[in-house]
Amino acid sequence: MNILLIGNGAREHAIAEAIVRSPQKPKLFSYMKANNPGIAKMSEQVQIGKYNNLEEIENFAKSCAVELAVVGPEDPLSNGVVDALEQVGIPTVGPKKELAKLETSKSFTRLLMKKYNIPGMPRFKVFESLEGVREFIQELNIRIVIKPDGLTGGKGVKVHGDHFQTEEEAYQYCEEVLKDHNALVIEEKLIGEEFSLQSFTDGKSLFDCPPVQDHKRAFVDDKGPNTGGMGSYSTGKLLPFMTDQDLTEAHIITDQMREAIFKECGELYKGVMYGGFICTKEGVKLIEYNARLGDPEAMNILPIMNNDFVEVLKAIVEGNLHKVRADFREESTVCKYAVPEGYPTDPVKDQKIFLGEVPSNVKVYYASVDRKDEDLYMSSSRAVAFVGIAPNIEQAQVIAEDGVCSAQGPIFHREDIGTKELIEKRIKHMEELRNS
Ligand code: AMP
Ligand code: GLY
Repeated sequence: MNILLIGNGAREHAIAEAIVRSPQKPKLFSYMKANNPGIAKMSEQVQIGKYNNLEEIENFAKSCAVELAVVGPEDPLSNGVVDALEQVGIPTVGPKKELAKLETSKSFTRLLMKKYNIPGMPRFKVFESLEGVREFIQELNIRIVIKPDGLTGGKGVKVHGDHFQTEEEAYQYCEEVLKDHNALVIEEKLIGEEFSLQSFTDGKSLFDCPPVQDHKRAFVDDKGPNTGGMGSYSTGKLLPFMTDQDLTEAHIITDQMREAIFKECGELYKGVMYGGFICTKEGVKLIEYNARLGDPEAMNILPIMNNDFVEVLKAIVEGNLHKVRADFREESTVCKYAVPEGYPTDPVKDQKIFLGEVPSNVKVYYASVDRKDEDLYMSSSRAVAFVGIAPNIEQAQVIAEDGVCSAQGPIFHREDIGTKELIEKRIKHMEELRNS
């Protein structure tokens, strides 16, 4: 079977790995915007191009006689790549453009939750102008989060207490956002511990992956600006601060959203519904949906998946997902990203990164790097992800840390991800909230 993969990041590197290890021995063809050496190595053929060049993607897919396509990142989804490929008869894992609004429009998702009365919704309002903005900021006592309506690479959301303090600062940010976005969402700031639940779906049933916790903030101790995600961990089952009930609540929210989106758009959502959830004192709430696997979260779940990933992908497009039972090893994984100095606000650009002697038990996933001649150059985004897999988080953390420390160049990483101290802090935080 010939399979097309669109995307060039570490998430797609992990997807590529899961595809090629299938006992069905598929052949991989990759369309990337930069030459990810990890993906290129596993591919029969590679094409470098833009994610909005749908014609080029279609032609590449046809010339490689692909029978199935998989879309990694959100950009091609929001450009309608799934619609384009399906029009030429190529079944594709990923939602069509209209359905990808689950990620591309924060207002679409919140309004859908409201219309279908789905649990886990914070107080919110959508604004297309500044009218009423000040009143709503006051109504929520400035304890708010401001979200531009549209894709921002995880970096446009501003949170009270972290990114602004006063009503005036909040108002000014809203003013700024409305200059280049049609709308924004203001919502209640939720307090708790976040987790990602990534569910594959054929539009009719869900195949849940184990929950993962990402670390959005750039610096140690959750300080600094939001990033695409600096690293993550999972145990292959529950996270240490979660209860079974939390996971059930999150599953129910995604399942109801799956049904709601079908009712709203009249079309089955095929691909990934990745819910960003938060455990709060009042139960699980939804922060946002993404219409694809998480990056770094994909690197926590795909390496411990026992299922034949190609069987899962086929079941999604054929509408048979209810026949495939999710099967993951109960192993802990810790992922740490090496990112360029200055990331995310003022990253160094086009600098070399050297991987040196990476210990053999570390899994390496390339992200925003380009191989030129024998050297690896970073772009301005997350460069290389290092994953440790072990029976517990502590051991997995040591492996990932050894991995990331073996890389050299103008880079940094978060030493605290997966450490005992940080995990205990998360558990304590949740205990305090639940008991308060
Ligand atoms: P997003 O781009 O929606 O993933 O938001 C980025 C980050 O902002 C999330 O991972 C949260 O840490 C934070 N955030 C977003 N919405 C809320 C909310 N309603 N309450 C608290 N934090 C939030
Ligand atoms: N881990 C954050 C994201 O994939 O959006």
